[in-house]
Amino acid sequence: MNTEAGRKFAVITGGSSGIGYEFAKVCAEEGFEVLIVADYGTDAAAEQLRADGAAVTALPADLSTFEGNEGVAATILQRSQPVDILALNAAVGVGGAFLETDLERDLALIQLNIGSVIHLSKRLLPAMVTRGEGRVMITSSIAATMPGPYYATYAASKAYLLSFAEAIRYELKDTGVSVTALLPGPTDTEFFDRARMQDTPVAEARKDDPAEVARDAFQALMAGDDKVVVGSVKNLLQAAAARLAPEQFKAARHAAQTKPKDQE
Ligand SMILES: NC(=O)c1ccc[n+]([C@@H]2O[C@H](COP(=O)([O-])OP(=O)(O)OC[C@H]3O[C@@H](n4cnc5c(N)ncnc54)[C@H](OP(=O)(O)O)[C@@H]3O)[C@@H](O)[C@H]2O)c1
Repeated sequence: MNTEAGRKFAVITGGSSGIGYEFAKVCAEEGFEVLIVADYGTDAAAEQLRADGAAVTALPADLSTFEGNEGVAATILQRSQPVDILALNAAVGVGGAFLETDLERDLALIQLNIGSVIHLSKRLLPAMVTRGEGRVMITSSIAATMPGPYYATYAASKAYLLSFAEAIRYELKDTGVSVTALLPGPTDTEFFDRARMQDTPVAEARKDDPAEVARDAFQALMAGDDKVVVGSVKNLLQAAAARLAPEQFKAARHAAQTKPKDQE
């Protein structure tokens, strides 16, 4: 795999669409060489980014499998270039009442949303810490701050990631490697279609622009921020209210957004 001498290097999982794609674009604009990792869409996304002048490599991998993560880690570690930005962002949702969703989809969600973040952190952080430099972004969600009925495994996976990010941020505080948790609110990407949540109030409501989310994320990451709620003011208010409100109240408020309309 070729590297472009002198450029800083950003690795972005889920970089083929949505927030990850826009984040890859911002990194490229800021002079980073970019590696995007995703399951299906990497080649088309890389081609598009290259057309905009980016130095980008595509690495297709199914990050819901052990082998997929192991292969990605090995490919990155074999390069001569150290990782400056590690954005662990790939995830899926599974919409619907928990008793009705497929067990296989829920377990695959956990393998991807949680398993891949743990796997790639375990494999790639040691070199970053040894070098004493680097920035890690873990994409959680505002959904992490409250129970998430009608996509329960998704919201729980994002709460896991927020806790994990905060914990390793503390462990790495004196190493030169910062860890930032990104908490977007509803954002206009393929997420809701893939999660089969088209028929929900949140999918039909106005959403944030992924390009703006990505720009805010980049700024927070470079500033070494702890966690950042990105997007509209509504998200900030929701996150602030979540610190005070009882869980059952938050669950009901959240459910009003995520409940499929045919179940009302
Ligand atoms: N959209 C929102 O409202 C929202 C809100 C809060 C947080 N987030 C978070 O933001 C992050 C990005 O989501 P998004 O909204 O940008 O959704 P998206 O457009 O659906 O992007 C998801 C990305 O994950 C990749 N991916 C899915 N399954 C994969 C697998 N098995 N192996 C490797 N890559 C896989 C997809 O790649 P391929 O298609 O190429 O497989 C795609 O690049 C996620 O962590 C999500 O939880 C989103």
